[in-house]
Amino acid sequence: MHTQSSPQSWSSADGVWHHLQLAEQALGPDAPAMADAAIVVEQASVSWVGARTDIPEAYKRLPQHDGHGALVTPGLVDCHTHLVYAGQRANEFAMRLAGASYEEVARSGGGIVSSVRATRQASEDELFESAAHRLQDLLAEGVCAIEIKSGYGLSLEHERKQLRVARRLEQAFGVTVRTTFLGAHALPPEYAGRSDDYIERVCQEMMPALAQERLVDAVDVFCETIGFTLAQTERVFQAAQSLGLPVKLHAEQLSDMGGSALAARYGALSCDHIEHLSDPGIAAMHRAGTVAVLLPGAYYTLRETQLPPIAALRRAGVPMAVSTDHNPGTSPILSLLLMINMACTLFRLTVPEALAGVTRNAAQALGLSASHGQIGIGRPANFVLWPLSDVAQLAYWVGQRPACSVVRQGRLAVDGMALRGSAV
Ligand code: NIG
Ligand code: FE
Repeated sequence: MHTQSSPQSWSSADGVWHHLQLAEQALGPDAPAMADAAIVVEQASVSWVGARTDIPEAYKRLPQHDGHGALVTPGLVDCHTHLVYAGQRANEFAMRLAGASYEEVARSGGGIVSSVRATRQASEDELFESAAHRLQDLLAEGVCAIEIKSGYGLSLEHERKQLRVARRLEQAFGVTVRTTFLGAHALPPEYAGRSDDYIERVCQEMMPALAQERLVDAVDVFCETIGFTLAQTERVFQAAQSLGLPVKLHAEQLSDMGGSALAARYGALSCDHIEHLSDPGIAAMHRAGTVAVLLPGAYYTLRETQLPPIAALRRAGVPMAVSTDHNPGTSPILSLLLMINMACTLFRLTVPEALAGVTRNAAQALGLSASHGQIGIGRPANFVLWPLSDVAQLAYWVGQRPACSVVRQGRLAVDGMALRGSAV
């Protein structure tokens, strides 16, 4: 477990960062790699970036930070997580190994609702503590922005508790957090047989109250045979739209319900999972500018065999993001680098596609394109220094956490490079 000090004690990253190798795409979609580059940070924002030899004279008086030839990427963005919950579900992992399917486990009272039971019993402080430990693993690998969903409370009180923890994590760790209200994640036991009534509760009571409390940045639904129907999903989207909240969707994970096309009609930021996505869904996502969020950790953990339609998404020009989907049921994984590896190995993404998937496209999936996902003048200083000589190594090593240094929101928040010395 990593122990990190608080944002207040991290040193300012203001000054000139030099002796850097900028990764391709770091400055934008078509930007080439740049050897011997420099980044100037002032008041926690990037004020200049370019070749070291071109640094304007005025910046030479600022504090100097030697990057020792490190490879530099934008801060990573983990755009789909269920980070706040209590308990764990290793028993279900074992049940699936013994032959049960994810659907069977869910229908027998396990699955999401077992995490709901544990999460309802936990206090806000207990949830904060456990989520903070998990968050630190992600931050140590260069994550600078993260989405955190509710969906293990399934009542106003307990969804609020989860979302409040997400907001507290943002403050405590100086990381950008986007909260997503996922009240329509599963049917709570007290609504057994009354799923439409529950959806009304989500739309009329929970969502407006939580939005009013500024706890909701986006709204999500689990649209699936073991989740909610297309009609129920649309009802939730209408409620979100009336509150001015963007939507996203857990879509086509286990079957082709047509959820992605519906989400695209509501201008969804993203459709996530999408193993069973069909051509009309891809076309609709393309028209709407919806990001395809690929979750190889859930695919791997559930030992799925249906691959998401990567080649068709690529042909259609739908932006693809990659995320951990960290959750206790289907993706107990706390490494975005491992997801880069799996996106390449299991889904056949290229290295540049996988890098865009955890930076620029992930930022787009959260509506953060203007501030995150690439390095640029006027943007908050979020970048990672890797002790690696090329980008492919981000995808290549497995199970070895490179000792990176992370400038997050203008502070040197992780200092692995200094501990290990210069780049290899
Ligand atoms: O993204 N598919 C639904 N939601 C989660 C799983 C949640 C759980 O099993 O606890 C997912 O895979
Ligand atoms: Fe999920």
